[in-house]
Amino acid sequence: MYKKIETLLKEKIGLDVNTVGVASVQSAIKRCLEGYSYKDLDHYHQVLLDSEAELRRLVEAVVIPETWFFRDDVPFDVLASNINSNWLMPEDSARTLRILSIPCSTGEEPYTIAMALDKIGFPVERVQIDAIDISQHSLDKAKRGVYRDNSFRSTDLSFRDVYFTKLADSYRLKSRIRKRVNFRQGNLLRDDFSEMKDSYDVIFCRNLLIYFDSKDQQLAVRKLYDLLTPEGVLFVGHAEANNNVNQLFRSLRLRGSFAFVKKREFNASEPDNYDTKIAEFSKKHSAMPSIGGKKSSLSLVQGASAADSKPFSTYMVRNKFDDELDEHVLVSKARQFADEGCLDEAEKICQQVLERFSSADAFYLMGVVYEASNRSGMAESMFRKAIYLVPDHTEALVHLALHVERHGSVDEALSLRRRAERAGL
Ligand SMILES: C[S@@+](CC[C@H](N)C(=O)[O-])C[C@H]1O[C@@H](n2cnc3c(N)ncnc32)[C@H](O)[C@@H]1O
Repeated sequence: MYKKIETLLKEKIGLDVNTVGVASVQSAIKRCLEGYSYKDLDHYHQVLLDSEAELRRLVEAVVIPETWFFRDDVPFDVLASNINSNWLMPEDSARTLRILSIPCSTGEEPYTIAMALDKIGFPVERVQIDAIDISQHSLDKAKRGVYRDNSFRSTDLSFRDVYFTKLADSYRLKSRIRKRVNFRQGNLLRDDFSEMKDSYDVIFCRNLLIYFDSKDQQLAVRKLYDLLTPEGVLFVGHAEANNNVNQLFRSLRLRGSFAFVKKREFNASEPDNYDTKIAEFSKKHSAMPSIGGKKSSLSLVQGASAADSKPFSTYMVRNKFDDELDEHVLVSKARQFADEGCLDEAEKICQQVLERFSSADAFYLMGVVYEASNRSGMAESMFRKAIYLVPDHTEALVHLALHVERHGSVDEALSLRRRAERAGL
């Protein structure tokens, strides 16, 4: 009978229970039943079909609002450094730039966009930031703008002193930033957004596609495509730059940003110089340091910059590097490809490394590649191999924790997270 309720959740919000773990969905259902006098799960299923309010209560219980300010900060950096450029904002244009954050959860992502633009002095009146989420509970919290420590997980927290007022055990976002975001409820998969077609110059859709099966991912990607202006930029999450996105979009190949533009063959309204513009854009930004000079979250390996500028084929042949340096360079290259969403290339290099070395980083990267292409079982086994070789491989620990949690192994997930924390993430 759980199955029927799980199917209903899939129909209504696209949630594929396997992505979060059957056990965690079933425990959310049990929580919703507590204190109510439903005869059995059959009865509850009927109530969900009849009552919008009950269905909303269940949706609130199953969604995962996990988010924080400046989460994976590179996309905000790319946006801030490009907002005044000819790409997004033609100099002669007086129009407002429109940005969408979907899903926005409790508001950290759209507020980060507002802070990043404020920081560079971008005029308020030239930008409109809209933010959509299915969860009314999260939206209410977003509108209040009061946050606890859990929302501040980035290494550099200097923005907190500038944009927040300290309360007893929380922080209130200043109203000039709060006022810049318009929140509304919406369901990316099931709502009709046709009145907003071609509206947004920039869309952030991060950490939602991972909860959908492949068919719903395709549907969501199509909706995002329609919402975006012909030359607009789409940012997805690091595990979401997969084949479903690549079908309609083309990666800008900016390390750590997972930024995409519409593909030429599907994009009738693109200008003649589209390819040249993309090439210039990618070139300019590939030279750009990320916010605060930090490396992207995937960039564990140091000192790869000289190697990065070499063509891919350089890494496919045995060369004069000694073994250690060779492994290091190849893994760096694989990381770069994975960061840019070029999964096939990243996978090929990792395989090449693993034929010759027992590299924890290569196993970890293979895991990331498998994860992004929905090969979950293989991803898990790669993360386990990385940890076997390097027990405090923090990124592999964190990824593996997410995987085992989805399968309902809550205790193992907790223990892996503790190990990751001790290892310094
Ligand atoms: C993990 S959060 C991601 C928040 C933010 N984008 C980030 O990356 O930090 C996922 C959010 O997706 C929302 N959500 C789930 N299904 C949705 C749907 N079909 N349409 C819109 N939002 C949805 C949930 O309510 C939750 O707040």
